[in-house]
Amino acid sequence: MNTIYVKVKDAGDAAIGEAGRMIRSGGLVAFPTETVYGLGGNALDPASSKKIYEAKGRPSDNPLIVHIADTADLEQIAESVPPAAYVLAKKFWPGPLTMIFHKKPSVPYETTGGLDTVAVRFPSHPIAQALIKASGTFIAAPSANVSGRPSPTSGEHVLSDMDGRIDMIIDSGPCEIGLESTIIDMTEEIPVILRPGYVSEQMLRDAVGDVGRDPAVFDEDTTARPKAPGMRYRHYAPKGSLAIVSGDRDKVISYIRRQTEERPAGEGKRYGVITCTQDAGMYPLADFVADAGSLEDENEIASRLYDLLRRCDEEKIDVIFSEEFDTPRMGSAIMNRLIRAAGHNIIKL
Ligand code: TXA
Ligand code: MG
Repeated sequence: MNTIYVKVKDAGDAAIGEAGRMIRSGGLVAFPTETVYGLGGNALDPASSKKIYEAKGRPSDNPLIVHIADTADLEQIAESVPPAAYVLAKKFWPGPLTMIFHKKPSVPYETTGGLDTVAVRFPSHPIAQALIKASGTFIAAPSANVSGRPSPTSGEHVLSDMDGRIDMIIDSGPCEIGLESTIIDMTEEIPVILRPGYVSEQMLRDAVGDVGRDPAVFDEDTTARPKAPGMRYRHYAPKGSLAIVSGDRDKVISYIRRQTEERPAGEGKRYGVITCTQDAGMYPLADFVADAGSLEDENEIASRLYDLLRRCDEEKIDVIFSEEFDTPRMGSAIMNRLIRAAGHNIIKL
């Protein structure tokens, strides 16, 4: 398949109309959102959803998020929407929050991975909104990466994963947030966070009072099964082995530093370190120092993370050590993704 690749600066670009028609007629288009790039198809068309799973190489029991461009459209796809959902919508939509509801029959099981619930998000990115409107339908979109790889936060990331697999890629530069949306299940008495993201637990509590969290996802219970099927798989992973080193910061630095200094003779492996700007000078013998940004700017760390994991692959790094990023608001989202990328390989000092 020939993939059309277009760079688009704003929501008025004619390419968006063409992309909307492609989605309407059953095609797949990757597009930017404020979180990560999405791989979009017509959410109400079972065949389109099947194509999305094929293009990503994703297991078909892993449901897709349905993207809308107007809160009023929610009731076309969701059943028994509780009042708290409207409170959250008013506060966080459009934006990086996905809510789960009982689905209406109009949403095919192919889109929801066989579940009776549907995940809904109203993205804030103007190009995403323009595309949804141009399509005249709702857009089912997982992150536009090949299953298992880090989510794409730039048009180049999408191109390297999806070229030849989909009809079109809309590139509008890097994503602002860089981590996927927060997911909250609104079908429970007390809403439950299924995936941490930019909208933090505290922000949700401030809006609607008590919220729960899926213990399997917050790594409080490593034997439990996450409620969001996608959180059960190894994810976001670079090709090299990745270990997170946890503990007192000075000890973490000296441990990682020692690994880069005391390598087995003739091993021939390339070592990388994922670190913060403050510590980036501490690893002179690493083959690749991935500086995620200043500890004082957690938004920067979140937005760079996936690019750095991909860069480790480009630099052909075999062994990666990462510091911990225990930042105040986004820390749980950043660590949630890193821990999955590391397949739960954590070295506790
Ligand atoms: O920021 C985002 O949410 C991005 C952009 C493109 O909007 N999308 C995204 O989609 O991250 P995806 O498919 O990579 O992740 C969706 C997650 C998966 O873990 C999936 O299992 C979960 O949402 N999910 C979807 N529908 C669900 C449902 N009905 N019940 C529980 N989990 C659900
Ligand atoms: Mg994904």
